[in-house]
Amino acid sequence: MVKVITYGTYDLLHYGHIRLLERAKALGDYLIVGVTADDFDKTRGKINVQQSLMERIEAVQNTGIADEIIVEEYEGQKIDDIRKNNIDIFTVGSDWKGKFDYLNEYCQVIYLDRTEGVSSTEIRAENREIELGLIGDSAFLNKVFEESKYVNGLKVSALQTKKSSIMNKELRKCSRNRVIDDSDAIYIRSKPTLHYNQIKNALMTGKHVLCESPISLNMKQTEELFSLAREKKLVLMEAIKTAYATAFSRLILLIKGGKIGDIVSIDATCTSLNKTDWHGICEWAPTALLPIFELLGTNFEKKIITHLDENGVDLFTKIDFVFDNAVASIKVGDGVKSEGELIISGTKGYLYIPAPWWKTDYFEIRYENSNDNQRYFYQLDGEGIRYELVAFSRAIESGKVISNIKYETSIAISKIMEDYFTKKDIKYI
Ligand code: CTP
Repeated sequence: MVKVITYGTYDLLHYGHIRLLERAKALGDYLIVGVTADDFDKTRGKINVQQSLMERIEAVQNTGIADEIIVEEYEGQKIDDIRKNNIDIFTVGSDWKGKFDYLNEYCQVIYLDRTEGVSSTEIRAENREIELGLIGDSAFLNKVFEESKYVNGLKVSALQTKKSSIMNKELRKCSRNRVIDDSDAIYIRSKPTLHYNQIKNALMTGKHVLCESPISLNMKQTEELFSLAREKKLVLMEAIKTAYATAFSRLILLIKGGKIGDIVSIDATCTSLNKTDWHGICEWAPTALLPIFELLGTNFEKKIITHLDENGVDLFTKIDFVFDNAVASIKVGDGVKSEGELIISGTKGYLYIPAPWWKTDYFEIRYENSNDNQRYFYQLDGEGIRYELVAFSRAIESGKVISNIKYETSIAISKIMEDYFTKKDIKYI
């Protein structure tokens, strides 16, 4: 019996896939199809696969061509699969020509002609073309513009800014006065005091909104904006890029799964000496608060804000929280420099992310016996912005909330901002 194996993502299964599977099957008697897992696709740079792994497996199964379906999860798995299954022929489309010649050592490698004129990428782009307008006065918009190019079906169409630091020539060409009229969705990175009106205005005119955290500086206003979005069936998402870094979402899952036992303390530090036009607390606190609220919830018993400023300029803020069974603290600011690490301490061990933890591709879980320590590495592309844009466009398309940040977390972040600006529970040093 001649055994054949082939691999692919098979997103939005199309005629090109079916032709390939048919020809692969015809090469032998038994066909194994490897469908790539979402995580593995991410590391290969395919970030906006639209269907889940289960949906893609089902689609391949429904063709009735495959005798067996497996999941491809890691680099180097092909060799393992070929050996384990006594494969005679490995085959893929000619777009991969030469890339798998190294497998000749284990079996015959055949590249089949790719079907012209059809690809998942094209179908994804046809399905939706979300025109994204950027609003704000931050050089960060340049990054968002560059990252948007990796997201099929999302196109920056308009820009509203006063800032000369938007140096990107392509982006400057998008400049318009009435950005909202020219877009389906809006991304906002402006002074936090402007967020409420900008978000409300966008939602009232039927646009989806992705806004840098904090959504507003007042809890009630943030609640109002989310309920307005719900009422109008629009997506309102808070942007904190760290929430979309693979390492960060994995560590949340590992900790919730009990890897370090019960959480007793979380300490997050984010500082820089790059002063921005707005308060350091707005710049950094949402990121630092993220692991605390996502892991311990938002029902803390007590908090104290300790603050240092110089002639009204926000330099440094420390916030200490007391929860039922745990404590937490953040140190943030644009006028003090510290080690930007995250430490989550538990009853069995602790999780450590070195500086700068908010854009990490790596963390460690450490135990009393250092032989038990484990290190975790993940791919981080575009500081998480790319994945955040993918989540935003998927949410628009599916009409479902697909945020890595809980609603309660967004509300609690706005409440902290409100307390800071109304000077509640605050001490000055
Ligand atoms: N394939 C093909 N003809 C096409 C598209 C894909 O023969 N028009 C083959 C690929 O060469 C591969 C398999 O189908 O062997 C699975 O391809 P996959 O990467 O899932 O599909 P693409 O449409 O190429 O996806 P994308 O646009 O995301 O790269």
